[in-house]
Amino acid sequence: MNDLDALFAAARAVRARAYAPYSRFAVGAALIDENGVLYAGCNVENAAYPVGTCAEAGAIAAMIAGGGRRIVALAVAGQGLVTPCGACRQRIREFGSDETRVHCIDEHAVIKIYALKQLLPDSFGPDNLAKEHLAR
Ligand code: THU
Repeated sequence: MNDLDALFAAARAVRARAYAPYSRFAVGAALIDENGVLYAGCNVENAAYPVGTCAEAGAIAAMIAGGGRRIVALAVAGQGLVTPCGACRQRIREFGSDETRVHCIDEHAVIKIYALKQLLPDSFGPDNLAKEHLAR
């Protein structure tokens, strides 16, 4: 199995663990970090709706907790085309780059592959703040 196949398998597998009793919309996300380590997360909803978290946020939290710092590739598994929400695009931006590939997949197929810059053009990121800090 190559890296991308493993990435897709992990996103699909973790999707089955989603806790989504309110939306009934299960999502799985998986990413590969700069060390080639795979991390996964699913959406975790809450009776207090806004407290729920997205699959991407879970995968990123797992990466950070595991010692990874960069997202090399990411997959989102849902039903049909599921792209990351606006907030998650910014979360991915923090640890990715303009070229980071976001693979949107379902149970059967790869539906669409984006570069992060297509999902979040002209983004604000850590570099913007770093310049400010250097100037002071
Ligand atoms: N959701 C994700 O986990 N990731 C996405 O990319 C899109 C949406 C979740 C949030 C919520 O639990 C459910 O899907 C419906 O919006």
